[in-house]
Amino acid sequence: MRPVLFPFALGGLLVVSCLAAIAQNSGPTNPKKQEMLELQACAAAALQGFRPIADNRAQRFQGKVTLLTASCRGGQKAVQYRFTPYVDWSNYWGTGDLSSLPKGYLSTAIPQARGVNGALLDLEYQRIELIKFNLFDNDLTYQNYIVGQNGVVGAALKVFPPLRLPATNPFYAAVGGDGEQICKGDLIRGRTLAGICNDIRNPLMGSIGTPFARNVEFETTFPDQEQNQLTKNRHGGRINLMTPDPQVISRKLFTRTQTANNGCNQGFGSPTFSPDVNCDYQKAPFFNVLAAYWIQFMTHDWFSHLDDGHNGSGMISMGCASHKVNGVETPLTADQADKLGCRPTDLVDKGLVLQDSAPETFTHNGGTYMTRAPKTFANNNTAWWDASQLYGFDDISVKRVKRDPSDQARMLLVPVEGRQGGYLPVLAAGDPFPPQWAGQESVAFPDNWTIGLSFYHNLFAREHNSFVDEFRKQAAKTPNADSGLRNPSDPTRVIRYKDVTPDELFTAARLVVAAEIAKIHTTEWTPQLLYDEPLYKGMNANWSGLLGTGDPDDSKALADIVVKGFGKSKNATKESQWYSAFASGPGIFGLGSKVLRYSITNPDDVNGGVNHFGSPFNFPEEFVTVYRLHPLLPDLIEVRDVSKDPNQIVQKVAVIETFEGKATEAMHSRGMANWGLSMGRQRLGLLMLHNHPAFLQNIKLARLDTPTQQVDIAALDLTRDREHGVPRFNEFRRQYGLHQLTSYDDFVDQRLPVDSPQRKQQEETVRQLREVYGTHVCDASKIITDAQVNDDGTPINDCLGHPNGSVVDNIEDVDTVVGFLAEFTRPHGFAISETQFVVFMLNASRRLFSDRFFTSSFRPEFYTQFGVDWVNNNGPGPVQMEAGTPNGHRQPVSPLKRVMIRNVPELRPQLKSVVNVFDPWGRDRGQYYSLEWNAKPEAATDPAFQR
Ligand code: HEM
Repeated sequence: MRPVLFPFALGGLLVVSCLAAIAQNSGPTNPKKQEMLELQACAAAALQGFRPIADNRAQRFQGKVTLLTASCRGGQKAVQYRFTPYVDWSNYWGTGDLSSLPKGYLSTAIPQARGVNGALLDLEYQRIELIKFNLFDNDLTYQNYIVGQNGVVGAALKVFPPLRLPATNPFYAAVGGDGEQICKGDLIRGRTLAGICNDIRNPLMGSIGTPFARNVEFETTFPDQEQNQLTKNRHGGRINLMTPDPQVISRKLFTRTQTANNGCNQGFGSPTFSPDVNCDYQKAPFFNVLAAYWIQFMTHDWFSHLDDGHNGSGMISMGCASHKVNGVETPLTADQADKLGCRPTDLVDKGLVLQDSAPETFTHNGGTYMTRAPKTFANNNTAWWDASQLYGFDDISVKRVKRDPSDQARMLLVPVEGRQGGYLPVLAAGDPFPPQWAGQESVAFPDNWTIGLSFYHNLFAREHNSFVDEFRKQAAKTPNADSGLRNPSDPTRVIRYKDVTPDELFTAARLVVAAEIAKIHTTEWTPQLLYDEPLYKGMNANWSGLLGTGDPDDSKALADIVVKGFGKSKNATKESQWYSAFASGPGIFGLGSKVLRYSITNPDDVNGGVNHFGSPFNFPEEFVTVYRLHPLLPDLIEVRDVSKDPNQIVQKVAVIETFEGKATEAMHSRGMANWGLSMGRQRLGLLMLHNHPAFLQNIKLARLDTPTQQVDIAALDLTRDREHGVPRFNEFRRQYGLHQLTSYDDFVDQRLPVDSPQRKQQEETVRQLREVYGTHVCDASKIITDAQVNDDGTPINDCLGHPNGSVVDNIEDVDTVVGFLAEFTRPHGFAISETQFVVFMLNASRRLFSDRFFTSSFRPEFYTQFGVDWVNNNGPGPVQMEAGTPNGHRQPVSPLKRVMIRNVPELRPQLKSVVNVFDPWGRDRGQYYSLEWNAKPEAATDPAFQR
C-alpha cells in the first residue's frame, strides 16, 4: 500500500502548504511569485479532484469554488471576492476585458485559458444541477418524475401520459386515439400550427394552451398565501398582491432621473420630433435598440399569458395607496401620490387562470409533495421556437398570416409608395382582430406592436421569400436533382426539386426561418447580451459544439468537463444529468441527426435526438419573470437617414409615437433601412433600477375601460408576477442554486473603491430599498427555507446570520424583478444579472434539447438539403467569413448581418464594419471585449459619441 499512500501524503502536504501561502498572500506581490503560487494551487486543486454533482439541494454548487481553485483560475482577485454572494467565475483570468489578464506573467494565454475554461466548467456544473433540481412540470407528470414509472427512474422518462392528445383534439384519431399515440404522416413533416407532434411520442407537449411549468418547488410558489410554515416564517405576513405597493415601488425605484428642462415630457418628447429634446436613461455601451426589440420579437414566439391581446374578466387595483412610514405601511395622501406621480384610480384587467383548485398531493420516501402548483396559467402560444409569431399558433392567428396568392409558398408582401422592397399588408376588414390593433400590419402575434416588431416581422417575411426565391432558382437549375425532402406517407419516393409543391416549400421555409432565428439568438444576440469570452464559447458550444471550434483550448475544456469531470456511467439518472455536459462536445443543435441509414418512418430516428430530462418542455413562469425587460427601451428613438449622413440624428421620435398602428405608419413613412440604421446605432437601456422608460409608466391602453385608461407597466410587471406566484428574490436565488443575500447591502459591488461615486450611488439605492421594503426584528427560531442550509450545515433562519433579535432587512420580501435589477455585481459584459442568467441557462438549452427540429429532425428529409445548407451557412452559397479575428476568433459573417444585407440591401454600407448586429453600429469594439463607448473613425462626428 505504501506506493499509493505516499503520493497522497505528498498531495496533502502540497494542499496544506498552498492554502497557507494563499492565506498569507493578501497584499501586492511579485507577479512571478504569484504565478508560481497559482500553478501550485492548480496542482493542489487537481489533487483534490472534481467536485461531485450535488446529491441534494443543500449541497449545490452555488457557483462558489474552493480557495485553491479560485487561486488557480483567477489569482488574488478571485480569492479576494469569494466572500460575496455572487458567482466566482466572473473574477477568473480572461473573463473580462484586457484588464482581466495578468500583468508581468510569462504568458497571459495560459492563465487566460485556465480562467475561461474554469468558467466554462463552472457554468456546466450549474447547468447540470439546474437540470437535476429545477424541473417542475405543471402537467401532472411530476409524481412520475419523482417516483419513477414502470421501473424507470423519473429523470429517464421519455413518454408522459398526460401529454396524449385528448379525444376532443381533431388529430386524436390520426395519432392513435386511445391506443399508443404516435404522430406520423403529414403531422410530422414540419411545425404544426398548434405545436402538437414536435415530440412524436408526446403529441401535446409544447402546444398552445398547455400550462406554464415551474423551475421552483411548488411549495414555494404563491408565497403570499403562506402555504406552509417556512413561507410564513420567511415573510411574516408582510406581503400580498398590493404590498409593498407596486406603483410606489415603480415611482421610488424604477423612475428614470431626468435633467431639468430637457424636454422629455414624461417620455412623450416633442410633438414636432425635435432632435433638441432629450430623455435621459442609463445606456449600455455594447447593446443597441435593435437588441431590445429582438427580445420582444422572441418573447412573442415563446409565450403569452394573454389570449389574443386580452386578459381575464374583473379588474384589480394598481396600488398608489400606501407606503412605509417608519417601517409601517401607511395610506398615501392625495398630495403624496401626486408628488410621487402615481395614480390611485388606475385599474387593470386580472390575469387569466387555468386551474386554481387545490392540487392533489402524494408521498414518497417520507416526504409529501404537491402534484402541481396551487394555480396554473396557460401558455397561449406554442412553447416551441417555431416562429409562431410570424406563422400562427391557432385558427384565429393563422388567418392574419397572408400568403401570396400568386405563389402559395411565399408570404404576401405589398409595395409601399416611395419605399424599396415589399411590406406586410395592413389588417383589413374581415381579418380577426380587436379594435386596438387597427392600422397595424397583419401578423399572427400583433400585441403591443412596436416599430421594432414591425421591423423584424417585415425582415423575416422578406427572408422567408428570399429562401423561396433562391430555392426556385436552384430548382430551375437542377429540376431533376433530389431535393432531400421526403414524405413520410410515401417515404421511398425521391422528391426532386421540380416536384416540391408550394405547400411543401412553405413548410420547409418556416423550418429554415425558425432555425435561423434560433441561431441568431444563440450565437449573435446572446453573446452580445453576455459580452465576454466564456459566454462566447459557451453559446457557440450550444450551437456547433466545443469540438467544432477547432480551438485546442476548447477541446481541452471539453475533455475536462466530460472525461475527467464526469466519466461515463450506466446509471440512468446520472446519464441524464451528464447529458448536457456531453452535448457540449458536438453541440446541441443537430444532436441525433447524423444517424447512419436514417429513416423518416422510424420514430427512433425522427425523435431520437430529443431529451427532456424526464420533465416535459414548457417555459416556467419564472422564465417570463426574467424576461420582463422593459428598462431596455429608451423613451425617444434617435432617427437617422441612410440617404443622408448616417452620423446625423435628424429627429427624436417618442417610442409611444411608434406604438400599435403608429408603428406601421412610422415604418411606411420612413422605411426599413432608416429604422434599421436608427435602432442599430442607438444604445439600449441598462437593466437596472431607476431606468424604466417614463412612457411605459404612463401609457394609455385602448383596451382598458377604466377611469384613467392608463397603466404603469413597470408596476404591472410586479403585479403580474405576484398573481403568478413567483417566489420573491432571495428564495428565487436559493431555489436556482445561487447564494442568498443577507441584507440590501449585499447588492453593492464590492469591487468598486469605497469612495467612488458609483459605489456611493449604489449605497443610496440600498437606502431606498430599505425605505420601500423595510426592516424587522428577526427571530432565529424561525426556519425560512429548505432549499439551502448555512455553511455549517444548520438551517437558514429569519436572522440570516445576524444576531437573534437584531433589526434585519426585509430582503426576503423584495420582488424578483426589483432584486435582479438591483444586482450591481455582474460578470463582465452582462446586460442581465446572474439571477436572470441561471433561468436563461436552464431554459434556453432545454428548448434546443427538447425540439426535434433542432436535433434529430434537422435533416434534409424535413428542411430540404438546400434548407439545411442555408441554416448552416447563414444563407445561400458557401459560408462567408468575417475579416480579421474579432476578440481573437475567426468567425463567419453573422447570420443577422447576412439576413439584413439580403433583405434590406440599402443597409449594406452601414453594416460593412459591423461584426455583431446587436453591438451599436458606430462603436469601435476595441480589443478583447471592450465596453468602451468610442466611435469608429467613420462615426467620429456622430453626436451620440459626444460625452
Ligand atoms: C413599446 C414597447 C412595449 C410595450 C408598450 C409593452 C407593453 C406591455 C404590456 C401592455 C404588457 C402586458 C401586461 C399584462 O397585461 O400582463 C407587456 C407584457 C410583457 N412585456 Fe412588454 N412592452 C413593450 C416592450 C417589451 C420588450 C422590449 C420586452 C422585452 C422582452 C417586453 C417583455 C414583456 C414581457 C415578458 C411581458 C409579459 C408577457 C406575458 O405575461 O405573457 N416588452 N408588455
